Amino acid sequence: MTTALAIGQPTDRVDGRHKVTGGAQYSADLLLTGMAYAVLVGAGVPSGRVTGIDSAEALQADGVLTVLTHENLPKIAGQPPLIPSLAGMPAPGQTFFPFQDEVVHYTGQPVAMVVADTWERAQHAAALVRVSYQETPSVTTLDQARDEAYEPEAVFGGFVPGRSTRGDVAAGLAKADVRIDAVFSYAANNHNPIEPSATTAAWDGDQLTLHDATQGVAATQLTVAALLGLTPSKVRVISHYVGGSFGCKAMIWAHPALAALAAREVGRPVKLSLTREQMFTSVGHREEQEQRLTLGADKEGRLTALRHHKLSPTSHFDDWAEPSLGVASQFYACDNYEGVYRLIRAHTMTPTFMRAPGEASGMFALESTMDDLAHELGIDPIELRLRNFTDTDPTTGNPWSSSGLKECYQRGAERFGWHRRNPEPRSHRDGHLLIGYGMAGAGYPGYGPSNPQRARARLYSDGTAVVQAATPEFGTGVATVMTQVAADALGLPVERCRFEGGDTMLPTIAAAVGSSGAGMISAAVHTAATNLRRQLVAQAVADAQSPLHGADPDAVTVRDGRMILRDAPDTGETYVELLHRNFLPDAEAVGAWSPSPESTRYGKMTFGAQFAEVAVDPGLGLARVRRMVGAFAPGRVLNPKTARSQLMGGMLWGLGQALLEANYMDPRRGRWVASSLGDYLVPVNADAPEVEVELVDVTDEIINPLGVKGVGEVGQVGAAAAIANAVHHATGRRVRKLPITLEDLL
Ligand code: MOS
Repeated sequence: MTTALAIGQPTDRVDGRHKVTGGAQYSADLLLTGMAYAVLVGAGVPSGRVTGIDSAEALQADGVLTVLTHENLPKIAGQPPLIPSLAGMPAPGQTFFPFQDEVVHYTGQPVAMVVADTWERAQHAAALVRVSYQETPSVTTLDQARDEAYEPEAVFGGFVPGRSTRGDVAAGLAKADVRIDAVFSYAANNHNPIEPSATTAAWDGDQLTLHDATQGVAATQLTVAALLGLTPSKVRVISHYVGGSFGCKAMIWAHPALAALAAREVGRPVKLSLTREQMFTSVGHREEQEQRLTLGADKEGRLTALRHHKLSPTSHFDDWAEPSLGVASQFYACDNYEGVYRLIRAHTMTPTFMRAPGEASGMFALESTMDDLAHELGIDPIELRLRNFTDTDPTTGNPWSSSGLKECYQRGAERFGWHRRNPEPRSHRDGHLLIGYGMAGAGYPGYGPSNPQRARARLYSDGTAVVQAATPEFGTGVATVMTQVAADALGLPVERCRFEGGDTMLPTIAAAVGSSGAGMISAAVHTAATNLRRQLVAQAVADAQSPLHGADPDAVTVRDGRMILRDAPDTGETYVELLHRNFLPDAEAVGAWSPSPESTRYGKMTFGAQFAEVAVDPGLGLARVRRMVGAFAPGRVLNPKTARSQLMGGMLWGLGQALLEANYMDPRRGRWVASSLGDYLVPVNADAPEVEVELVDVTDEIINPLGVKGVGEVGQVGAAAAIANAVHHATGRRVRKLPITLEDLL
């Protein structure tokens, strides 16, 4: 007798019906008795001082309860340090909090907050607040301040050093037979989840409850507690459904604390929802950037040197850059390397995580340049990559916990039909269209949480189970896959298990960022559910009335809720029988997981390979992607349906990065040019080609108990490079900027 395991099945989303029938309640859907609505007024200049705020007219408008500014809003208690939320610590989006004084650091910085009895009345009154400024000169683009660039000690919340080297890059370049030196420029990007950020705050005495759209309820709890000078036990954060995030709800920006402050001021619950326009100035962005990549190689294409420099604007208060030099420094065997981040201070908010943070932009530079090298040496691009393959992490010398990269190249190439490619640019046509095939490697690091991740499992005497962990479901499928993990660990059918999350009252899990969610949460849930199964088996073998009395616990297994002897499956009893006989309504266990010390001796990376076919209309300069194939080796696949959706979403995001997504600062006004989905283009179904995802099996015994490596980010890495390489193959033109637009191809 065997029972099919739940893990690995393409189980439908447990929250799917709720989502499509409108039953899912998002933070902004919540209605509380007596609730008021806050609307933010953003600064209209990028730099200077507020010289006056005239609230008189707004205060007289119907339904207005108060207008809060730096003159009357209580000051914050203190600002916690800026630490990426994967650490399980407070994670403020920036170390600047508005309303503390009259200084303006960026356009859109909140300078007033109107609270009224309806959202429409608050919106109307916000338009009546008159703010005057003394404007000072601003810098908002790289071009305005290249000469003032500085080298920071560290970026990315202090987690990534400003400079890293190995070997001797000058010597490596000197001995190279081929050298390529290329500069890449990138437009800024904004996240645009369907659900704009929103927080509802309610006080009950000194106890604060926040309903917040967040990737990590503990990150919101700890950040708001620090800002308001509260102990975390006084702050509960609930986040049952999040309508997409992609990094902009990973760090905690000002609005949750502002909602709490406003609620305290008016003595009513307050809802604060950002408008779509405010999403462009309130939750970080992927920074504008320039990357210079210099590589040297011998005649066979083996890398002798790699130099990768990045220049990007950050805010006036934080040294933040997305870690673009990470995977690109680890992907190939190369003894001589130098990576340097340089920053300029700009009148913008602090940039932040955005899907495939850092690696989506860094690997565009590396993988475009590898394509140039292949072309110059007349080596097939896949063969060139195999010649530079590394089975250790070159930054540490540690072996990968698992790889699968070679199989990704091979299986992706087969599925795509790479062998049909004539390497000569402009050699494939379809009528007047130029057809191109391109490929690129992909990788995303396996970040591990630094704090223990916890979960709880409870079995009821009706034979159903619930597993709980604080993590929100932000669209990734976590509730579904954790139900599957619990079912297998408990030996129950998946229909009898359910997952509860999104509440700081539940066991603590760090924010799910950097593709870490499935790995760290499954580890905690698996541990908790396994502990509960062991506890029940121990109870049965100790129970004189159990058919399993006196058995070796290790000889007992559980199938379909029945504890049985592995070698004599007729001997046993159900969980339900055990609980009933002992008058127990339920049984419960907790589980905690941290990465093992041994795992630090391994490099951790999800690898993949991307392939794209484009058709370019040479008369119009229009590039369309016809086909994308991605092969990925993400370790254990908990649910192939949700994993494919994540990877497909990442690949399509890469298409957007390659051809559509861009925001630019207008340097005269210091404002973003795009502030709506009408100006900021993301791929829609009409842009979406056939996307095929190939899952390559690899076993990883190091990374976490179930060997799960994560799929949230890697789908985007390399996708833009594969498209740009296909554009080069189609047209003979190497475009080193993102996005690639009509004028680049005319
Ligand atoms: Mo991911 S961009 O770290 O939410």
